[in-house]
Amino acid sequence: MLVVAPKETVPGESRVALVPDAARALKKAGLELAVQAGAGYGAGVDDATYEREQIGVVADAAALFGKADVVLKVQPPSDAEIATLRRGSVLLSFLRPLDEPQIAARLAQAGVTSFALELVPRITRAQAMDALSSQASLAGYRAVLLAGATAAKILPMMTTAAGTIAAARVLVIGAGVAGLQAIATARRLGAVVEAYDTRPAVKEQIESLGGRFVELALDTKDAEGAGGYAKAQSEEFLAKQRELLGARVKLADAVISTAAVPGARAPLLIDAETVAGMKPGSVIVDLAAATGGNCALTKVDETVVAHGVTILGPSNLPSGAAVDASRVYARNLATLLLHLVKDGAITLDLEDEITKGALVTQDGQVVHPAVRAKLGLG
Ligand code: NAI
Repeated sequence: MLVVAPKETVPGESRVALVPDAARALKKAGLELAVQAGAGYGAGVDDATYEREQIGVVADAAALFGKADVVLKVQPPSDAEIATLRRGSVLLSFLRPLDEPQIAARLAQAGVTSFALELVPRITRAQAMDALSSQASLAGYRAVLLAGATAAKILPMMTTAAGTIAAARVLVIGAGVAGLQAIATARRLGAVVEAYDTRPAVKEQIESLGGRFVELALDTKDAEGAGGYAKAQSEEFLAKQRELLGARVKLADAVISTAAVPGARAPLLIDAETVAGMKPGSVIVDLAAATGGNCALTKVDETVVAHGVTILGPSNLPSGAAVDASRVYARNLATLLLHLVKDGAITLDLEDEITKGALVTQDGQVVHPAVRAKLGLG
Protein backbone atom coordinates (compact mmCIF):
# COMPACT_ATOMS: atom_id res chain seq x y z
CA MET A 1 0.00 0.00 0.00
CA LEU A 2 1.48 3.33 -1.12
CA VAL A 3 1.18 6.31 1.24
CA VAL A 4 2.13 9.73 -0.16
CA ALA A 5 2.45 13.35 0.90
CA PRO A 6 2.45 16.23 -1.63
CA LYS A 7 4.00 19.68 -1.42
CA GLU A 8 1.36 21.92 0.15
CA THR A 9 -0.05 24.49 -2.26
CA VAL A 10 -1.70 27.05 0.04
CA PRO A 11 0.42 30.23 0.09
CA GLY A 12 2.41 30.56 3.31
CA GLU A 13 2.08 26.88 4.21
CA SER A 14 5.53 25.47 5.03
CA ARG A 15 4.45 22.31 6.84
CA VAL A 16 4.55 18.84 5.32
CA ALA A 17 2.47 15.81 6.26
CA LEU A 18 5.30 13.24 6.21
CA VAL A 19 8.76 13.51 7.79
CA PRO A 20 11.35 10.77 8.36
CA ASP A 21 10.50 10.20 12.03
CA ALA A 22 6.83 9.37 11.35
CA ALA A 23 7.81 7.57 8.15
CA ARG A 24 9.85 5.02 10.12
CA ALA A 25 6.75 4.01 12.09
CA LEU A 26 4.79 3.57 8.84
CA LYS A 27 7.56 1.57 7.17
CA LYS A 28 7.67 -0.81 10.11
CA ALA A 29 4.02 -1.60 9.31
CA GLY A 30 5.07 -2.55 5.76
CA LEU A 31 3.79 0.58 4.02
CA GLU A 32 5.49 2.05 0.94
CA LEU A 33 6.09 5.80 1.06
CA ALA A 34 6.61 8.68 -1.37
CA VAL A 35 6.58 12.48 -1.31
CA GLN A 36 6.47 15.18 -3.96
CA ALA A 37 9.85 16.74 -4.78
CA GLY A 38 10.45 19.76 -2.55
CA ALA A 39 7.58 18.86 -0.21
CA GLY A 40 9.72 19.04 2.93
CA TYR A 41 11.98 22.04 2.26
CA GLY A 42 9.89 24.44 4.33
CA ALA A 43 9.93 21.95 7.18
CA GLY A 44 13.69 21.35 7.07
CA VAL A 45 13.67 18.06 5.13
CA ASP A 46 15.30 18.00 1.70
CA ASP A 47 14.67 15.43 -1.03
CA ALA A 48 18.02 13.70 -0.41
CA THR A 49 17.00 13.06 3.21
CA TYR A 50 13.73 11.44 2.11
CA GLU A 51 15.63 9.30 -0.39
CA ARG A 52 18.11 8.21 2.26
CA GLU A 53 15.12 7.03 4.30
CA GLN A 54 13.88 4.99 1.30
CA ILE A 55 10.98 7.36 0.72
CA GLY A 56 10.32 7.83 -3.00
CA VAL A 57 10.51 11.37 -4.42
CA VAL A 58 8.10 12.06 -7.31
CA ALA A 59 8.32 15.20 -9.44
CA ASP A 60 4.69 16.31 -9.58
CA ALA A 61 1.56 15.96 -7.48
CA ALA A 62 -0.65 14.47 -10.20
CA ALA A 63 1.82 11.59 -10.74
CA LEU A 64 2.09 11.11 -6.98
CA PHE A 65 -1.69 11.04 -6.41
CA GLY A 66 -2.21 8.83 -9.47
CA LYS A 67 -0.48 5.90 -7.75
CA ALA A 68 -1.43 6.61 -4.14
CA ASP A 69 -3.61 4.43 -1.94
CA VAL A 70 -3.39 6.91 0.93
CA VAL A 71 -2.71 10.66 0.73
CA LEU A 72 -1.49 12.57 3.78
CA LYS A 73 -1.95 16.36 3.71
CA VAL A 74 -1.83 19.40 5.95
CA GLN A 75 -4.28 21.81 4.31
CA PRO A 76 -7.65 20.74 2.90
CA PRO A 77 -7.26 19.86 -0.80
CA SER A 78 -8.09 22.49 -3.42
CA ASP A 79 -10.50 21.69 -6.25
CA ALA A 80 -7.50 21.12 -8.52
CA GLU A 81 -6.00 18.67 -6.01
CA ILE A 82 -9.31 16.84 -5.57
CA ALA A 83 -9.49 16.46 -9.36
CA THR A 84 -6.20 14.54 -9.33
CA LEU A 85 -7.00 12.27 -6.36
CA ARG A 86 -7.66 8.67 -7.34
CA ARG A 87 -11.21 7.29 -6.86
CA GLY A 88 -11.06 4.87 -3.97
CA SER A 89 -8.00 6.48 -2.38
CA VAL A 90 -7.99 7.52 1.27
CA LEU A 91 -7.18 11.06 2.44
CA LEU A 92 -6.08 12.03 5.96
CA SER A 93 -5.86 15.80 6.42
CA PHE A 94 -7.24 18.88 8.07
CA LEU A 95 -10.48 19.36 6.10
CA ARG A 96 -12.31 22.24 7.87
CA PRO A 97 -15.34 19.91 7.81
CA LEU A 98 -17.65 22.14 9.84
CA ASP A 99 -16.44 25.51 8.48
CA GLU A 100 -16.21 24.56 4.79
CA PRO A 101 -18.35 21.41 4.39
CA GLN A 102 -18.40 21.83 0.59
CA ILE A 103 -14.88 20.38 0.58
CA ALA A 104 -16.32 17.17 2.05
CA ALA A 105 -19.09 17.19 -0.56
CA ARG A 106 -16.49 17.44 -3.36
CA LEU A 107 -14.40 14.63 -1.86
CA ALA A 108 -17.50 12.43 -1.72
CA GLN A 109 -18.22 13.20 -5.36
CA ALA A 110 -14.64 12.29 -6.27
CA GLY A 111 -15.05 8.92 -4.55
CA VAL A 112 -12.35 9.65 -1.97
CA THR A 113 -12.60 8.19 1.54
CA SER A 114 -11.58 11.02 3.84
CA PHE A 115 -10.73 11.53 7.49
CA ALA A 116 -10.67 14.99 9.08
CA LEU A 117 -8.04 15.51 11.76
CA GLU A 118 -10.35 18.13 13.31
CA LEU A 119 -12.90 15.40 14.07
CA VAL A 120 -10.63 12.91 15.86
CA PRO A 121 -12.36 12.53 19.25
CA ARG A 122 -10.51 14.29 22.10
CA ILE A 123 -10.33 11.07 24.14
CA THR A 124 -7.30 9.70 25.98
CA ARG A 125 -6.89 6.80 23.52
CA ALA A 126 -6.63 9.27 20.63
CA GLN A 127 -4.23 11.74 22.22
CA ALA A 128 -1.34 10.83 19.90
CA MET A 129 -3.62 11.58 16.91
CA ASP A 130 -4.79 14.95 18.27
CA ALA A 131 -3.51 17.36 15.62
CA LEU A 132 -5.71 20.22 16.87
CA SER A 133 -3.77 20.10 20.13
CA SER A 134 -0.31 19.59 18.63
CA GLN A 135 -0.74 22.58 16.32
CA ALA A 136 -2.59 24.79 18.81
CA SER A 137 0.28 24.44 21.30
CA LEU A 138 2.69 25.83 18.71
CA ALA A 139 0.25 28.60 17.79
CA GLY A 140 -0.06 29.64 21.45
CA TYR A 141 3.70 29.75 21.83
CA ARG A 142 4.26 31.75 18.67
CA ALA A 143 1.42 34.15 19.46
CA VAL A 144 3.30 35.29 22.57
CA LEU A 145 6.56 35.73 20.63
CA LEU A 146 4.65 37.81 18.08
CA ALA A 147 3.05 39.90 20.82
CA GLY A 148 6.43 40.42 22.50
CA ALA A 149 8.04 41.50 19.24
CA THR A 150 5.16 43.84 18.33
CA ALA A 151 4.25 45.52 21.64
CA ALA A 152 6.02 48.76 22.45
CA LYS A 153 6.78 47.32 25.88
CA ILE A 154 9.08 44.45 26.85
CA LEU A 155 7.58 41.44 28.60
CA PRO A 156 9.90 40.87 31.61
CA MET A 157 10.70 43.12 34.51
CA MET A 158 14.18 44.58 33.99
CA THR A 159 16.41 46.41 36.42
CA THR A 160 18.69 48.99 34.82
CA ALA A 161 20.91 51.77 36.15
CA ALA A 162 18.23 54.17 34.94
CA GLY A 163 15.51 52.51 36.96
CA THR A 164 13.34 49.43 36.98
CA ILE A 165 11.11 48.52 34.03
CA ALA A 166 7.87 46.86 35.13
CA ALA A 167 6.84 43.52 33.64
CA ALA A 168 4.18 43.63 30.91
CA ARG A 169 0.62 42.56 31.64
CA VAL A 170 -0.58 39.83 29.30
CA LEU A 171 -4.25 38.83 29.13
CA VAL A 172 -5.08 35.47 27.58
CA ILE A 173 -8.71 35.01 26.54
CA GLY A 174 -9.70 31.37 26.10
CA ALA A 175 -7.58 28.87 28.01
CA GLY A 176 -7.84 25.81 25.76
CA VAL A 177 -4.73 24.20 24.32
CA ALA A 178 -3.39 27.36 22.60
CA GLY A 179 -4.31 29.63 25.51
CA LEU A 180 -2.60 27.44 28.12
CA GLN A 181 0.58 27.32 26.04
CA ALA A 182 0.39 31.11 25.63
CA ILE A 183 0.11 31.49 29.41
CA ALA A 184 3.13 29.23 29.99
CA THR A 185 5.19 31.05 27.34
CA ALA A 186 4.30 34.55 28.56
CA ARG A 187 5.18 33.51 32.13
CA ARG A 188 8.52 32.11 30.99
CA LEU A 189 9.25 35.43 29.31
CA GLY A 190 8.55 37.22 32.59
CA ALA A 191 5.14 38.78 31.96
CA VAL A 192 2.40 39.09 34.55
CA VAL A 193 -0.36 36.90 33.12
CA GLU A 194 -4.08 36.69 33.67
CA ALA A 195 -6.56 34.61 31.73
CA TYR A 196 -10.28 34.07 31.30
CA ASP A 197 -12.33 31.19 29.92
CA THR A 198 -16.05 30.45 30.12
CA ARG A 199 -15.26 26.87 31.19
CA PRO A 200 -14.76 27.13 34.96
CA ALA A 201 -12.77 23.86 34.92
CA VAL A 202 -9.71 25.65 33.53
CA LYS A 203 -9.22 27.93 36.57
CA GLU A 204 -6.89 25.42 38.23
CA GLN A 205 -4.91 24.86 35.01
CA ILE A 206 -4.37 28.62 34.59
CA GLU A 207 -3.21 28.92 38.18
CA SER A 208 -0.90 25.93 37.94
CA LEU A 209 0.92 27.73 35.10
CA GLY A 210 1.39 30.85 37.20
CA GLY A 211 -1.48 32.81 35.69
CA ARG A 212 -4.31 34.55 37.54
CA PHE A 213 -7.86 33.51 36.69
CA VAL A 214 -10.01 36.54 35.93
CA GLU A 215 -13.33 36.23 37.76
CA LEU A 216 -16.23 37.80 35.87
CA ALA A 217 -19.79 38.08 37.15
CA LEU A 218 -21.18 35.75 34.47
CA ASP A 219 -23.14 32.53 34.89
CA THR A 220 -20.87 29.86 33.33
CA LYS A 221 -22.25 26.75 35.08
CA ASP A 222 -23.36 25.28 31.74
CA ALA A 223 -20.52 26.65 29.60
CA GLU A 224 -18.99 23.25 28.91
CA GLY A 225 -20.64 21.02 26.31
CA ALA A 226 -19.91 17.69 24.66
CA GLY A 227 -16.28 16.55 24.49
CA GLY A 228 -15.07 19.20 26.94
CA TYR A 229 -15.60 21.98 24.37
CA ALA A 230 -17.17 25.34 25.13
CA LYS A 231 -20.84 25.83 24.22
CA ALA A 232 -21.85 28.80 22.10
CA GLN A 233 -23.22 31.57 24.34
CA SER A 234 -26.20 33.86 23.71
CA GLU A 235 -25.64 37.35 22.32
CA GLU A 236 -26.87 38.71 25.66
CA PHE A 237 -24.14 36.76 27.50
CA LEU A 238 -21.46 37.89 25.06
CA ALA A 239 -22.52 41.56 25.36
CA LYS A 240 -22.15 41.31 29.13
CA GLN A 241 -18.83 39.49 28.73
CA ARG A 242 -17.50 42.20 26.37
CA GLU A 243 -18.36 44.83 28.95
CA LEU A 244 -16.83 43.01 31.95
CA LEU A 245 -13.77 41.70 30.11
CA GLY A 246 -13.22 45.12 28.51
CA ALA A 247 -11.96 46.48 31.84
CA ARG A 248 -9.21 43.81 31.92
CA VAL A 249 -8.39 44.25 28.21
CA LYS A 250 -7.77 47.97 28.80
CA LEU A 251 -5.17 47.17 31.47
CA ALA A 252 -3.19 44.78 29.25
CA ASP A 253 -0.05 45.48 27.25
CA ALA A 254 -0.71 42.37 25.18
CA VAL A 255 -3.88 40.36 24.65
CA ILE A 256 -3.74 36.85 23.20
CA SER A 257 -7.27 35.83 22.27
CA THR A 258 -8.00 32.20 21.43
CA ALA A 259 -11.71 31.83 22.25
CA ALA A 260 -13.45 29.41 19.91
CA VAL A 261 -16.54 27.23 19.70
CA PRO A 262 -16.22 24.28 17.29
CA GLY A 263 -18.27 24.71 14.13
CA ALA A 264 -19.43 28.22 15.03
CA ARG A 265 -18.17 31.77 14.48
CA ALA A 266 -15.63 32.76 17.13
CA PRO A 267 -17.28 34.79 19.91
CA LEU A 268 -16.83 38.55 19.53
CA LEU A 269 -15.23 39.57 22.83
CA ILE A 270 -13.35 42.84 22.18
CA ASP A 271 -15.30 45.66 20.52
CA ALA A 272 -13.89 48.77 18.84
CA GLU A 273 -14.69 50.89 21.89
CA THR A 274 -12.56 48.66 24.12
CA VAL A 275 -9.65 48.87 21.65
CA ALA A 276 -9.97 52.68 21.77
CA GLY A 277 -9.61 52.46 25.57
CA MET A 278 -6.41 50.38 25.42
CA LYS A 279 -2.95 51.82 25.95
CA PRO A 280 -1.22 53.01 22.75
CA GLY A 281 1.63 50.63 21.99
CA SER A 282 -0.28 47.60 23.20
CA VAL A 283 -1.09 44.64 20.97
CA ILE A 284 -3.83 42.10 20.36
CA VAL A 285 -2.91 38.77 18.74
CA ASP A 286 -6.24 37.30 17.65
CA LEU A 287 -5.83 33.57 17.10
CA ALA A 288 -9.52 33.27 16.27
CA ALA A 289 -9.06 35.43 13.15
CA ALA A 290 -9.75 32.61 10.68
CA THR A 291 -13.17 31.91 12.20
CA GLY A 292 -14.30 35.53 12.43
CA GLY A 293 -12.02 36.89 15.16
CA ASN A 294 -12.46 37.65 18.87
CA CYS A 295 -11.80 41.33 18.19
CA ALA A 296 -14.13 43.44 16.02
CA LEU A 297 -11.19 45.11 14.24
CA THR A 298 -9.26 41.93 13.33
CA LYS A 299 -8.48 41.32 9.66
CA VAL A 300 -7.15 37.88 8.73
CA ASP A 301 -3.39 37.93 8.11
CA GLU A 302 -3.29 41.73 8.19
CA THR A 303 -1.84 44.23 10.64
CA VAL A 304 -4.45 46.76 11.77
CA VAL A 305 -3.41 49.75 13.86
CA ALA A 306 -6.20 51.60 15.67
CA HIS A 307 -5.69 54.23 18.39
CA GLY A 308 -2.04 53.15 18.56
CA VAL A 309 -3.05 49.53 19.27
CA THR A 310 -1.75 46.89 16.86
CA ILE A 311 -4.18 44.06 16.06
CA LEU A 312 -2.76 40.96 14.40
CA GLY A 313 -4.91 38.16 12.99
CA PRO A 314 -2.48 35.43 11.92
CA SER A 315 -4.29 32.45 10.41
CA ASN A 316 -1.41 29.99 10.34
CA LEU A 317 1.10 30.43 13.16
CA PRO A 318 2.05 26.71 13.28
CA SER A 319 3.47 27.04 9.75
CA GLY A 320 6.03 29.50 11.12
CA ALA A 321 7.39 26.67 13.25
CA ALA A 322 7.18 24.21 10.35
CA VAL A 323 10.02 21.94 11.50
CA ASP A 324 8.41 21.11 14.82
CA ALA A 325 4.82 21.51 13.62
CA SER A 326 5.43 19.00 10.80
CA ARG A 327 7.16 16.55 13.10
CA VAL A 328 4.26 16.38 15.56
CA TYR A 329 1.59 16.63 12.85
CA ALA A 330 3.16 13.79 10.86
CA ARG A 331 3.20 11.73 14.08
CA ASN A 332 -0.51 12.48 14.60
CA LEU A 333 -1.26 11.36 11.02
CA ALA A 334 0.89 8.24 11.22
CA THR A 335 -0.79 7.19 14.47
CA LEU A 336 -4.25 7.66 12.96
CA LEU A 337 -3.24 5.80 9.79
CA LEU A 338 -1.80 2.88 11.74
CA HIS A 339 -5.06 2.78 13.68
CA LEU A 340 -6.86 2.19 10.36
CA VAL A 341 -4.42 -0.38 8.92
CA LYS A 342 -4.69 -4.11 9.55
CA ASP A 343 -2.25 -6.50 7.85
CA GLY A 344 -0.95 -3.85 5.46
CA ALA A 345 -4.37 -2.66 4.23
CA ILE A 346 -6.95 -0.10 5.35
CA THR A 347 -9.73 -1.89 7.21
CA LEU A 348 -12.44 0.37 8.58
CA ASP A 349 -14.03 -0.69 11.85
CA LEU A 350 -17.07 1.56 11.94
CA GLU A 351 -17.85 0.48 15.51
CA ASP A 352 -14.61 2.14 16.62
CA GLU A 353 -15.13 5.60 18.15
CA ILE A 354 -11.99 7.10 16.57
CA THR A 355 -12.54 5.71 13.07
CA LYS A 356 -16.23 6.58 13.06
CA GLY A 357 -15.62 9.98 14.65
CA ALA A 358 -13.07 11.19 12.10
CA LEU A 359 -14.55 9.58 8.94
CA VAL A 360 -16.10 12.28 6.73
CA THR A 361 -16.67 10.65 3.33
CA GLN A 362 -17.00 7.04 2.19
CA ASP A 363 -18.44 5.28 -0.88
CA GLY A 364 -19.30 8.55 -2.59
CA GLN A 365 -21.23 9.91 0.38
CA VAL A 366 -20.64 12.43 3.16
CA VAL A 367 -21.16 10.12 6.13
CA HIS A 368 -20.32 12.25 9.19
CA PRO A 369 -23.61 13.38 10.78
CA ALA A 370 -22.38 16.87 11.81
CA VAL A 371 -20.96 17.54 8.34
CA ARG A 372 -24.14 16.19 6.70
CA ALA A 373 -26.16 18.57 8.87
CA LYS A 374 -23.98 21.53 7.78
CA LEU A 375 -24.66 20.55 4.14
CA GLY A 376 -28.39 20.33 4.82
CA LEU A 377 -28.34 16.58 4.14
CA GLY A 378 -30.08 15.78 7.43
P1 NAI B 1 -11.07 25.57 21.24
O1 NAI B 1 -9.96 25.95 20.31
O2 NAI B 1 -12.34 25.07 20.68
O3 NAI B 1 -11.40 26.85 22.15
C1 NAI B 1 -10.41 27.57 22.83
C2 NAI B 1 -10.93 27.99 24.17
O4 NAI B 1 -11.87 29.07 24.03
C3 NAI B 1 -11.64 26.91 24.97
O5 NAI B 1 -10.95 26.70 26.18
C4 NAI B 1 -13.02 27.48 25.19
O6 NAI B 1 -13.58 27.13 26.44
C5 NAI B 1 -12.76 28.96 25.11
N1 NAI B 1 -13.95 29.81 24.90
C6 NAI B 1 -15.04 29.59 24.10
N2 NAI B 1 -15.91 30.62 24.22
C7 NAI B 1 -15.36 31.53 25.07
C8 NAI B 1 -15.76 32.80 25.56
N3 NAI B 1 -16.92 33.35 25.21
N4 NAI B 1 -14.92 33.43 26.44
C9 NAI B 1 -13.74 32.87 26.81
N5 NAI B 1 -13.29 31.69 26.37
C10 NAI B 1 -14.11 31.02 25.51
O7 NAI B 1 -10.58 24.53 22.32
P2 NAI B 1 -9.34 23.55 22.35
O8 NAI B 1 -8.16 24.30 22.79
O9 NAI B 1 -9.26 22.83 21.06
O10 NAI B 1 -9.72 22.50 23.49
C11 NAI B 1 -10.93 22.55 24.20
C12 NAI B 1 -11.00 21.47 25.22
O11 NAI B 1 -11.02 20.18 24.64
C13 NAI B 1 -9.82 21.36 26.15
O12 NAI B 1 -9.60 22.33 27.02
C14 NAI B 1 -10.17 20.01 26.78
O13 NAI B 1 -11.20 20.09 27.69
C15 NAI B 1 -10.56 19.25 25.57
N6 NAI B 1 -9.39 18.51 25.12
C16 NAI B 1 -9.26 17.19 25.51
C17 NAI B 1 -8.16 16.46 25.12
C18 NAI B 1 -8.06 15.03 25.50
O14 NAI B 1 -8.59 14.60 26.47
N7 NAI B 1 -7.38 14.24 24.70
C19 NAI B 1 -7.08 17.04 24.33
C20 NAI B 1 -7.30 18.41 23.99
C21 NAI B 1 -8.41 19.10 24.38
